[in-house]
Amino acid sequence: MNDVKILLDEAEIPTQWYNVAADLPTPLPPPLGPDGQPIGPDALAPLFPQALIEQEVSTQRWIPIPEPVRDIYRQWRPAPMFRARQLEKALGTPARIYYKYEGVSPAGSHKPNTAVAQAYYNQREGCLRLTTETGAGQWGSSIALAGAMFGISVRVYMVRVSYQQKPFRRSMMETWGAEVFSSPTTHTQSGRDALARDPETPGSLGLAISEAVEDAASRADTHYALGSVLNHVVLHQTVIGLEAMAQFKKVNDFPDVVIGCCGGGSNFGGTAFPFLQEKAAGRAVRLVAVEPDSCPTLTRGRYAYDHGDTAKLTPLMPMYSLGHDFVPPGIHAGGLRYHGDSPLVSHLCHLGLVEAVAVPQLATFQAGVLFARSEGILPAPESNHAIRVAIDEALKCKESGESKAIFFTLSGHGHFDMAAYDRYFAGDLEDYAYPEEKIAASLASLRPIGPG
Ligand SMILES: Cc1ncc(COP(=O)(O)O)c(C=O)c1O
Repeated sequence: MNDVKILLDEAEIPTQWYNVAADLPTPLPPPLGPDGQPIGPDALAPLFPQALIEQEVSTQRWIPIPEPVRDIYRQWRPAPMFRARQLEKALGTPARIYYKYEGVSPAGSHKPNTAVAQAYYNQREGCLRLTTETGAGQWGSSIALAGAMFGISVRVYMVRVSYQQKPFRRSMMETWGAEVFSSPTTHTQSGRDALARDPETPGSLGLAISEAVEDAASRADTHYALGSVLNHVVLHQTVIGLEAMAQFKKVNDFPDVVIGCCGGGSNFGGTAFPFLQEKAAGRAVRLVAVEPDSCPTLTRGRYAYDHGDTAKLTPLMPMYSLGHDFVPPGIHAGGLRYHGDSPLVSHLCHLGLVEAVAVPQLATFQAGVLFARSEGILPAPESNHAIRVAIDEALKCKESGESKAIFFTLSGHGHFDMAAYDRYFAGDLEDYAYPEEKIAASLASLRPIGPG
């Protein structure tokens, strides 16, 4: 059989999300409040609807996907899985390469999988205004789309460097009815403080989160929506891995390695966590998170308590972090410029069940261009990180002669990222040196997890 697309019917869209918190070898350390004491779910009530808070702390293995959410998923799910036969040929590898393509969603990435769920629960509980941040613009677009579908007004704080690099992402959000600001703004105290510190700052996800949280906390009619990091967000993204497992079953195959790019961890966690059950059952499958080496959270950060945002408005979360003060270099994979990581991904990485690898910017674009020229799809710069590592694994197979099954999620298309590709072709893109001193200074403020 030489099939390329591995497809499922709409009836095979998962009916439940998989909650990895049920299967952790040791429980997740709790988030802490400003006094250093564990916080309860109540502390999150000003920012999130009750249903999402319950999911955040749940240890129930399977959580039903509400029918109105599944109905909207039908617009693009089940997402196709491809056997990358053209890429295999171009590489001359005996490896079997598979990818799950999340760029088929209306916003162009995996982010609507959680945006739709978050908008649904907010609307059901009577909240009709949301604030959020966006790095690459993929998350902002997704929540703008979901807001339009559920009659919710959305305000997006877009990291300044992305706002400048991607004007059409802003137009897209506005088309769906959202209001978009370049962050830092003068609308919030966090933004004004950041501008006073450095008027030329490129902005960061940590800073944009501070602005969105401050905005939501200052108004009784508003909740905050986060596009990654939190447990409930990773939970919603498990539709990716669950569908992929069903697709592998269809072709009677199973991956030796599962790869995902990792910013806040929702794409990687959503892809990889469902496979952990098989790993626990004794199947040899490696789970690999890929990050930029200019923002090397899992590979060079510290596993400690840190704030999710620059202004320290969020609780302290147990995660790998480069320090909430760290402003990553302005690489084009804006969605990977985050100082922290999902507590679930961090915990599993700390326990050795998940591997992490960091790759430089130019090598990711080289991989993305090779992918576009063989498979046709033009990937988002974030997704190029996963492609780089998938290609490296396939080249290792070429050397060893092994025919491994390599699987990655192609988390989004890069149609709004052409300025970055232009710069790459013009030779203007650079590899940033690992910002050692800046990271060391930022790490100094972190609080250890557990005694000592
Ligand atoms: C296309 C794409 N892939 C991956 C990511 C990384 O985010 P996360 O690690 O939360 O999945 C982003 C974030 O914006 C993105 O836009």
